[in-house]
Amino acid sequence: MRLNLATTTALSTLLVQLTSAQHQSQSQSQSQSQSQSQSQTAYFSEFGVLEFDNFGFEGYYRNVKTLDTSSSCQCELAANAQRTIFKGVNAPLNEEVSVHFRGPLILKQYGYYTTSSTFHVNDSSSAASVSWDRGAYYNGADQTAENVTFLTHAGDGSSCLGKAITYADSDGISSASSKTTLANDTLISSDEEFIIFSNISCAASGFSNDCGVYRDGIPAFKGFSGDTKMFLFEFEMPKETQTNSSSFEFYDMPAIWLLNARIPRTSQYPTNENCSCWATGCGEFDIFEVMNGTESNHFYSTIHDYQGTGEIGTGLQAPGYIERNLYASMKGGVVFDSEGSVSVFLSNSTTFDDITGTDVLSWISTASSDEGKATRTLVSATNTGSGKISSASQVNINTYLMFGMCLIAALFTLA
Ligand SMILES: *[C@@H]1O[C@H](CO)[C@@H](O)[C@H](O)[C@H]1NC(C)=O
Ligand SMILES: *[C@@H]1O[C@H](CO)[C@@H](O)[C@H](O)[C@H]1NC(C)=O
Ligand SMILES: *[C@@H]1O[C@H](CO)[C@@H](O)[C@H](O)[C@H]1NC(C)=O
Ligand SMILES: *[C@@H]1O[C@H](CO)[C@@H](O)[C@H](O)[C@H]1NC(C)=O
Ligand SMILES: *[C@@H]1O[C@H](CO)[C@@H](O)[C@H](O)[C@H]1NC(C)=O
Ligand SMILES: *[C@@H]1O[C@H](CO)[C@@H](O)[C@H](O)[C@H]1NC(C)=O
Ligand SMILES: *[C@@H]1O[C@H](CO)[C@@H](O)[C@H](O)[C@H]1NC(C)=O
Ligand SMILES: *[C@@H]1O[C@H](CO)[C@@H](O)[C@H](O)[C@H]1NC(C)=O
Repeated sequence: MRLNLATTTALSTLLVQLTSAQHQSQSQSQSQSQSQSQSQTAYFSEFGVLEFDNFGFEGYYRNVKTLDTSSSCQCELAANAQRTIFKGVNAPLNEEVSVHFRGPLILKQYGYYTTSSTFHVNDSSSAASVSWDRGAYYNGADQTAENVTFLTHAGDGSSCLGKAITYADSDGISSASSKTTLANDTLISSDEEFIIFSNISCAASGFSNDCGVYRDGIPAFKGFSGDTKMFLFEFEMPKETQTNSSSFEFYDMPAIWLLNARIPRTSQYPTNENCSCWATGCGEFDIFEVMNGTESNHFYSTIHDYQGTGEIGTGLQAPGYIERNLYASMKGGVVFDSEGSVSVFLSNSTTFDDITGTDVLSWISTASSDEGKATRTLVSATNTGSGKISSASQVNINTYLMFGMCLIAALFTLA
């Protein structure tokens, strides 16, 4: 299956991207999210691989400077002069990330991998010499837990920060007093979540310390780092057996996603956006996410940052979905390659040890040739928050415009 873009919607998406690349202003959000959702509905069908190209840009976010656990919730973000500027391939998702799971879900295996080589998903000639080194691993059946720490939202409540993270007990969702391995075959239900961090403890909370400011009393661990990295999962997402009701927020809407690891250490679900770096664009990548009850068997993949959109809540989706299997265990994951191609896939051939570049390419290319690949190419963007749009970035925008016009011309030709 290939993308069949309606030209008008391609144009509206492009204009959305152009406008937002130029300026991240809040006032544009409304119209952007409307045209975004209109243009996206036209694309959606099933694929084997969801890919983002040109992932990573030069931008900035603001870290939390002070956290307030009182009900007044006066959290404070870094001032402009203390903003965090990032750049490069896969930025800001090249920073440390935490790995998040929402039910209904059984996690059977989890692996995190990096490579000292460069790996590019379209380059089969050099893939054979690439070895992917496993830096963390969980296996439920044999209770292996290397470089992983299971945390969950079971700590002290706060009206503005939500529940603090704690060690998760073996059921994934209760609080434990120390590090505990998730039990074999543990099913978490709708709305229930756990998080995997590495086993490396953070230094003390502090704006200039390695993990930044974080919430008092939490077990604070570092996330999983690397510009070129891969996360693999074996999991089940069986249909929710409880009856739907308005007490559920995410009924039968399982998900696996990555957050900048700073987010859950301050507040994942704050009522005041200044209590987390999320709204300023420190980064979220949704790998396999059910978006709503109407499409409960469709996994979407979404990037939430400011590369080509001003609407961080909506984010930018890959233009298609991967089918959720309700009855069998699924294997697959996400690969962030060395040139900013990010591939999300499911493949029953996925293995978790002694992985070469050729293995990874074969999982992805087989899924792609079986069911197609939906690709979203992100715009090249630079926004370092210097407070004015420089002539240099104006030139960039004109370049995008010319590129976009060529793209549209090409689509007409193909149609
Ligand atoms: C792979 O894709 C990149 C763009 O992402 C392109 O520059 C490069 O030429 C491609 N390489 C091959 C071998 O197709
Ligand atoms: C783990 O759970 C699976 C599924 O219930 C079961 O088949 C297997 O025997 C369990 N393994 C262990 C070591 O308990
Ligand atoms: C972290 O995990 C690694 C790999 O399993 C292990 O060698 C190391 O001892 C662990 N460190 C801590 C502090 O638990
Ligand atoms: C554990 O994960 C961290 C975070 O990515 C990494 O820096 C470290 O090397 C890993 N430890 C081992 C033993 O691989
Ligand atoms: C967040 O901080 C900014 C100042 O940086 C302030 O203008 C805004 O009102 C704060 N938001 C909330 C919800 O307190
Ligand atoms: C469900 O989510 C998909 C993907 O985001 C979207 O295209 C669709 O419009 C949504 N359906 C409803 C009813 O909100
Ligand atoms: C569950 O109920 C909510 C309304 O409370 C509804 O929006 C949602 O689509 C339902 N989910 C399913 C899978 O029917
Ligand atoms: C994986 O195998 C299951 C049966 O165990 C099958 O239902 C499913 O379609 C396969 N998935 C893929 C992605 O091929």
